[in-house]
Amino acid sequence: MKHIYLDYNASTPIAPEAADAMRPFLSEHYGNPSSRHWAGAAARQALEKARGQVAALLDCAPQEIVFTSGGTEANNHAIKGAFFALRQRGKHIITTQVEHPAVLEPCRFLERLGAEITYLPVDRTGMVNPEDVRKAITPGTILVSVMHANNEVGTIQPIAEIARITRERGIPLHTDAAQSVGKIPAKVAELGVDLLSVAGHKLCAPKGVGALYLRGGLQLEPLMHGAGHEAGRRAGTENVLLDVALGAACELAAGDRESRRARLTELRDYFHAGMKHLFGAALALNGHPTMRLPNTLNVSFAGRVGSELLEALDGVAASTGSACHSGRHELSPVLKAMGVPEAIGLGAVRFSLGRWTTTEEIDRVLALFQTQVLK
Ligand SMILES: Cc1ncc(COP(=O)(O)O)c(C=O)c1O
Repeated sequence: MKHIYLDYNASTPIAPEAADAMRPFLSEHYGNPSSRHWAGAAARQALEKARGQVAALLDCAPQEIVFTSGGTEANNHAIKGAFFALRQRGKHIITTQVEHPAVLEPCRFLERLGAEITYLPVDRTGMVNPEDVRKAITPGTILVSVMHANNEVGTIQPIAEIARITRERGIPLHTDAAQSVGKIPAKVAELGVDLLSVAGHKLCAPKGVGALYLRGGLQLEPLMHGAGHEAGRRAGTENVLLDVALGAACELAAGDRESRRARLTELRDYFHAGMKHLFGAALALNGHPTMRLPNTLNVSFAGRVGSELLEALDGVAASTGSACHSGRHELSPVLKAMGVPEAIGLGAVRFSLGRWTTTEEIDRVLALFQTQVLK
């Protein structure tokens, strides 16, 4: 059985453009970007070119980009950095129940240090109500953190509306855009955010690299203290090798036109229609019907267990919406927060398509459903 990869939300293949950008940094370009000599200059130039490429995709100034080790670090930097810098002003942070652990766990850590966190609910489609953000704000609110698009169900949050509320109150807004950058437009001015996290390996750069957009003038406490790298915002010699790959991946994504997003949406919906044809009313969509990432299809097969279903789809890589703890299947916190009943949620499978997914592959998966699942 030939492998079919439908787990792009977990990680993507590295784009050839990103791999090509890295190659010279595995051999001839070994200088430290902080060094004052020729070797340092070459590394520095490459690093600053990459910073410009990331900034161009997010539509911000290059100096507003801080390179990180990935989405997790960017989120930790935004959340802990805001708390440590602003705790004289207050200790209240607003976030949502459907965030990735890379947001929820820093929040839980800060609770141990005295922070008060509001975890906002979502509706049945996974959407946050901006009015709930407004109501949750207190005089002590120092940060609002709402993800741009959800990793499990793909629901896109109304960030620009939330930003209008936080701006009125002068509260910084962070968005975890790990899943949206490279898939849909994620321009910081259009979104109105002050902080935005990028995860390289979700947009065809390697794992272990990412970036934090940090609006000029906003002071955060760094996570890493040391020498003055990244304008004092993240100490440690920059990972030029990975940063140039992230830059190349961002440039590739910036060149993507609406037509590529339309191709993915069409392919995803073709897949969905094919499954509906096979399973009828036993199939339920998890996530928002329209305000959703173009590549993400999270569906529940009523009365079935997602992991068992995936096992039957030999060679197909996708994710389930549940975890197995000591033999017991548990609903994911995201589906739980959306109010998906257990009988439906346990049968959830997330298929996430990407740049190299073909119609032929989707047809093969549909055929497998027919021969291996419905037999
Ligand atoms: C929404 C979201 N945030 C953050 C992360 C973490 O990013 P990284 O793997 O680069 O640390 C992920 C990765 O799965 C994610 O989906």
